[in-house]
Amino acid sequence: MAPRIVILEDIHADGIELMREWADVSIQLGLPRDQLLASTANFDAIVVKSVTAVDEELYEAASQLRVVGRAGTGTDNIDLEAAARRDLPVVTVPTGNTISAAEFTVALMLTLTRRIAEAGRAVAGGDFRRHLLEGRELSTLTVGLVGLGNVGRNVAQRLLPFGCRVMGWDPFPTAGEAFVKLGGTLCDSFTQMLPQLDLLSFHVPLTPQTANMLDRDALHNVKPGLRVINTARGGVIDPDALLEAVEDGRVSAAALDVISPEPPFDAEPGTASFSHPLLGHPRILVTPHMAASTSDAQQRIAVQLAASLKKALIG
Ligand code: MLT
Repeated sequence: MAPRIVILEDIHADGIELMREWADVSIQLGLPRDQLLASTANFDAIVVKSVTAVDEELYEAASQLRVVGRAGTGTDNIDLEAAARRDLPVVTVPTGNTISAAEFTVALMLTLTRRIAEAGRAVAGGDFRRHLLEGRELSTLTVGLVGLGNVGRNVAQRLLPFGCRVMGWDPFPTAGEAFVKLGGTLCDSFTQMLPQLDLLSFHVPLTPQTANMLDRDALHNVKPGLRVINTARGGVIDPDALLEAVEDGRVSAAALDVISPEPPFDAEPGTASFSHPLLGHPRILVTPHMAASTSDAQQRIAVQLAASLKKALIG
């Protein structure tokens, strides 16, 4: 019998087509948790992205499960220890979206330094006073990257030609070597780097060490007018502390592709109630975790995931 795969979050059609060559594939998107648990019972593999909590409860419900497929990089929604206890492999696609995430980060940096989102809103409201929208050149600023893995390094590589100073820090000390070769300035600690920055951008996974690392204490140690960018995980920033810092001007603007909890990505507007303290502020731009949302990255990820699942399920 062909292996059975259930896809619980949207992935690129090319990957689904490849899986259908050797597996029985069912697509069940946006299910409420109780239905999702019930629907996983007879499947050999589940495919998720960042929303579905893959935990002890799900492993218990999915009693036939032989492999977990994560269409992307982060695994903070997946209980890896519980999977290991059950000898369940978890396959990811670690570099499939690196370029998209790096390009998106640079786009957010320019959006903040040139006040593009504010300008769009002003013009939509009939206000064309460009003298109120003066920005800064990236070339004159100091940018700090937290996390110097695939995405952090690709951001640095794209930023350096702008002429800005690029500083970086990573919780893993050895991660900095390649960054220094690119021309970045490696810092010993996050607290050492922070007061020097005009722009701060996160590229770390969410771990106990990185959770809430931009908190009240850290935000009292910033250069006034700092701009904050987060394309990593919402949990690395304390939302209430950020809001206070934006209100009193320590942070001049923020662009957040990720907030915690994640919004209901599959819901039609008006059908789900979702609120968050960081939504609706004029100097905080929130985007729906879309740094990896290019057809290029999504196609690459789905195709690579299909190959990894095939290897895990039929060898
Ligand atoms: C990732 O971890 O792959 C990215 O944050 C995008 C996603 O979660 O889908």
